[in-house]
Amino acid sequence: MSVIGTGYLGATHAACLAELGFEVVGVDHDHRKVARLNEGAAPFAEPGLDDLLARHVGTGRLRFTTEVADAAMSADVHFLCVGTPQSALGRSADLGAVFAAARDLARHLTRDCVVVGKSTVPVGTAERVARELERFAPPGVETVLAWNPEFLREGHAVLDTLHPDRLVLGVDTPDAELVLRGVYADAIARGVPVHVTDLATAELAKVAANAFLATKISFINAMADISDRSGADVVALADILGDDSRIGRRFLDAGVGFGGGCLPKDLRALSARAEELGAAQVSGLLREVDEINLRARSKVVDLALELCGGDLGARRVAVLGAAFKPLSDDVRDSPALDVALQVHRRGAEVRVFDPEAALNARSVAPELTYVASLEHALRGADLVLHLTEWPEFLETDPRWAAGLVARPVIIDGRNKLDLDGWTRAGWTIQAIGRPR
Ligand code: UGA
Repeated sequence: MSVIGTGYLGATHAACLAELGFEVVGVDHDHRKVARLNEGAAPFAEPGLDDLLARHVGTGRLRFTTEVADAAMSADVHFLCVGTPQSALGRSADLGAVFAAARDLARHLTRDCVVVGKSTVPVGTAERVARELERFAPPGVETVLAWNPEFLREGHAVLDTLHPDRLVLGVDTPDAELVLRGVYADAIARGVPVHVTDLATAELAKVAANAFLATKISFINAMADISDRSGADVVALADILGDDSRIGRRFLDAGVGFGGGCLPKDLRALSARAEELGAAQVSGLLREVDEINLRARSKVVDLALELCGGDLGARRVAVLGAAFKPLSDDVRDSPALDVALQVHRRGAEVRVFDPEAALNARSVAPELTYVASLEHALRGADLVLHLTEWPEFLETDPRWAAGLVARPVIIDGRNKLDLDGWTRAGWTIQAIGRPR
């Protein structure tokens, strides 16, 4: 089998296929990435992935190359795992890499094969990919396209891939279904639900799931706003809503909102696609979800201003967290980094501490100061912003922290700190959607 594109999705998928016993070749045009992967090391932090890569590169079951021709010749199932970032000019997904990968693979094919799309794409893309494969494959070579989205979370990528909640097999031939059932035989034997569907539904399932999760978070952030204006407590509210088994408590944590490489871009891409399809109201709903999410960030900046008497100029602000979520070094569309930058632009002297993401954060936001310890960030601070709920922040002794800062004032942008404990230790603590 081959896996084309070795980003988050592709590298994990390739390693997990090898773990399932398949011979796998991973393809990427980035030489440095390929060299690193061939040494058995992931180009990003993900629990358990280095172990799998090292093990299976070691046994020879897994290898990586920059040559798509190599993959085209040695495999008869090809997984397309290239990235679909937000396009530079708007909210839609940039599909350039998907079509380029499909064309490139097709040109080099020497035998019939199944191509399985795993990239996150706007509904309707598979149809166009199938046409490209047909157009560029050599005469006599047949390609069958299937769509098989992936629902892995960063930080749990290996576990989610090997133990998925469900499998979605978008197919339009029995042969393609058979091939995919063979790939996932282990999970199917364990009873993981399998949804066999058409390609369009499979494509839409992925973005709809992410848009739903995004909507759930923005909904609770909207309720946080109402709570702030009415004296209600959004955390108690989320617990009450969450006990309704139809709603569920997960993804009901109000705060600075969602970020990362998936939820924001998939939401925007679905909104753009809805507009293209003439569903203006749907597009508007999703746009509102995005705006509520961005507003959650600026609310924390407004609160910071308020707690500093309306002026952040020359104030020293400690920012706890840069990653878009804890246990990750990913800073793509990170709410924490966005808030840190907004506060910096208003004249504050910002010191950011993140246990793992500082290197990545520095490359996208070099204007901020990154420090090597929590203590260093807190020392002399006029205001503390807790923006990514790393375990070590939640375990911090508020009395110790109070002894380091100039003013014991903190905004809990994740609603995860113990309000009473911090108040007892002398702090003015402001959470999101919770009574002061
Ligand atoms: C997300 C989805 O959860 C995966 O199912 C999907 O496969 C993946 O995108 C993808 O498309 O590749 P991920 O981006 O790793 O996974 O992150 P999540 O754990 O979903 O968190 C997203 C953001 O929502 C984070 O910034 C997190 O802090 C925020 N969040 C989450 C909240 O603000 N409140 C919550 O209650 C939960």
